[in-house]
Amino acid sequence: MKVTIVGAGNVGASCAEYIAQKQIASKVVLLDIKEGFAEGKALDLFQTATTLGFNTQITGVTNDYSSTSGSDVVVITSGVPRKPGMTREELIGINAGIVQKVSESILNHSPNAIIVVVSNPMDTMTYLALKSTGLPKNRIIGMGGALDSSRFKTYLSLALEKPANDIQGMVIGGHGDTTMIPLTRLASYNGGPVSQYLDSKSLEKVVSDTMVGGATLTKLLGTSAWYAPGASVAFLVDSILNDYKRMIPCSVLLEGEYGLNDICIGVPCIIGANGVESIVDIKLNETEQALLKESANKVQIMNAALNEIL
Ligand code: LAC
Repeated sequence: MKVTIVGAGNVGASCAEYIAQKQIASKVVLLDIKEGFAEGKALDLFQTATTLGFNTQITGVTNDYSSTSGSDVVVITSGVPRKPGMTREELIGINAGIVQKVSESILNHSPNAIIVVVSNPMDTMTYLALKSTGLPKNRIIGMGGALDSSRFKTYLSLALEKPANDIQGMVIGGHGDTTMIPLTRLASYNGGPVSQYLDSKSLEKVVSDTMVGGATLTKLLGTSAWYAPGASVAFLVDSILNDYKRMIPCSVLLEGEYGLNDICIGVPCIIGANGVESIVDIKLNETEQALLKESANKVQIMNAALNEIL
């Protein structure tokens, strides 16, 4: 199986690293526009194979899409990342043109690829990739919910003082500081609701920490985060290539599900060999449904900025 990662920056390289270390694919191609950069990252990563004991072949290319041909999955990380104080939404002008061009180039060489969108603002970029390529909706997946859920579970584990792997939970809605919806009602510690162990004030803090999870890291690092984003993408790619059919919150096109239409936004999906195999209806309560509607309104406003492009 072959995976192409467009953009060999921090997120792209981390994603390649996890895919290789876990041997999720036999081939990983890193592509970047900066001369020699992807080649360098790929070579450095590939030189860890003998030490770490993996067989995935990693190669890098400068803007040569012919090397990406026949990819099963293509991950788009290209575009500019957030700087401290910036919202993901402020990136729309620059990243829209890039994502559109990259999607077209990919499909010229890998017409059957499933596309995973990472570039921000992620929900709008997913919608753009879908509309501009005309691909069926199962083949375009925005990764935000996978990442936001991992941050949510991490903050829950810290609040609970319990191992992170014993926590289940998900974040739906937009991948934005004011649009994501950590579903505390459904989060659990080894099957027991977390509300049994955490008071509402602690839960509220977990929610607000999760919502600004990316911004907190951008402030600390001076640029956008990469380990958790890279790992979340690798997790998604693993479910696609191995047809695991994991339930992962992803930004996908809704056509009536959750009462929403013509929008890509985070909802729980079954992710398998066909990409989005199905959308899961988790029966939100009224408050959660209202939050999702509000989140969708904000994402729609962002999508309206695409009218000049589409
Ligand atoms: C973040 C970026 C990848 O949330 O959107 O870290």
